[in-house]
Amino acid sequence: MIRWKHVLLAAIAAPLLALLVAWSGVIYIGATGGHWSITNWFLHYVMRQSIATYAIPVEEPEIIDPGLLVPAAGHFQQGCAFCHGAPGEQRSATVMKMLPQPPDLTTVLSTWSDEELFRIVRNGVRYSGMPAWPTQERDDEVWGLVAFLRQMNGMDAETYQTLTQQPASGNQAAGSVAFERALSACAACHNLDGSGRSSVIPILAGQSETYLLNSLHAYADGSRASGYMQTAATLVDRALYAELAAYFAAQTEPAPPPVDAPNDVLELGRRIAEQGLPDKEVPACLSCHGSTRKAAYPSLDGQHRDYLVRQLVLFAEEHRGGTPFNHLMIRPAKGLSEPEREAVAAYFASRRR
Ligand code: HEC
Ligand code: HEC
Ligand code: HEC
Repeated sequence: MIRWKHVLLAAIAAPLLALLVAWSGVIYIGATGGHWSITNWFLHYVMRQSIATYAIPVEEPEIIDPGLLVPAAGHFQQGCAFCHGAPGEQRSATVMKMLPQPPDLTTVLSTWSDEELFRIVRNGVRYSGMPAWPTQERDDEVWGLVAFLRQMNGMDAETYQTLTQQPASGNQAAGSVAFERALSACAACHNLDGSGRSSVIPILAGQSETYLLNSLHAYADGSRASGYMQTAATLVDRALYAELAAYFAAQTEPAPPPVDAPNDVLELGRRIAEQGLPDKEVPACLSCHGSTRKAAYPSLDGQHRDYLVRQLVLFAEEHRGGTPFNHLMIRPAKGLSEPEREAVAAYFASRRR
């Protein structure tokens, strides 16, 4: 009987004691010293086990578009390098005092599978400072980043710089220092002439100014999903958006790259663009995307084909979001089969803006 009383008393006293210790404020939470090594070992054990378990259902796509490497590298430079370092780049003394310290990724990448890296980059690591991906709506960008991380292992500084910096160009912008700085960040992915450095980065040159401006706000508000662009847009002062949109809209369109598609595919694409697919309630694309379109609607002419296909998939899955007009695209996108999507994208890519 007496023994039971002791147990009960202990059960009440233990949490009270813990509360008292917390209240007294003597628990040290400064980041000058690390955990005990046993705590450290345990926390990492929990992290590795958790990531391994949550990575079980993750399925790696068979082909990762090589075009994804350029924006992935650009994003790594803007969103990861200041914590993890990059080929040829040193980290600040402040980051080195983070606890836990963000590891030099080249030393740990080989200990993770692609699926595990995907989980870490997409979901982050709680209580460590390792952030989650800015949007959970789409996975293609995260896979691009995983592909880039694999390439980064053993990459020299020069290759990294070519991937993350825009090539020198005679195209001179004139504006405030803040504008020039913002523009050079955009150019790392879009090029100074707005031509897009890879097939998944859209051409901005000659696009409607209103659409570009509305899209920048949509990324910044989180109403359009892209980890790359949500980061790039929020790194720039919103007051500069109008100037950036005007700048890119005024660039001359690059000649559309030659489109490699058989004639019957281009012909199917043209029919969908001009007439739609009445039996599937798909309206004619050109009724909204033609030359007499509203200023808030984008031109698709000469746009990168891979980019167009990806946007149509995102609309069909209702994961793209966009400006307040984006709902107009759900029905057209859902009505297209995969070959029809490919055909209409190839057709628009072959048109001139
Ligand atoms: C604010 C700093 C910070 C940023 C920004 C950051 N990370 Fe991390 N990252 C960390 C920290 C801290 C850890 C260590 C977590 C731990 O060990 O508990 C980590 C861990 C990781 C790991 C697991 C490595 C290991 O073995 O522990 C990977 C992979 C990773 N980060 C990739 C990325 C990528 C890719 C980005 C950019 C999209 C990124 N991180 C952005 C702080 C950061
Ligand atoms: C890390 C690479 C990267 C950087 C840096 C970047 N962009 Fe982008 N941008 C992209 C990608 C990739 C997309 C397509 C995203 C999507 O699927 O929604 C995009 C899309 C856009 C769009 C939407 C175009 C359309 O046709 O819908 C605009 C506008 C844009 N970017 C403007 C900018 C501006 C302005 C900057 C500089 C402040 C910038 N971007 C910096 C990669 C980048
Ligand atoms: C009723 C008007 C309307 C019709 C019809 C329409 N669209 Fe759109 N489309 C839009 C609007 C508005 C947007 C801009 C969405 C946003 O707010 O981000 C858009 C965006 C797009 C985009 C993304 C462009 C970019 O730069 O990111 C693609 C690709 C697209 N449409 C393809 C098509 C195709 C293919 C068809 C025909 C099958 C079609 N659209 C029919 C209104 C329409």
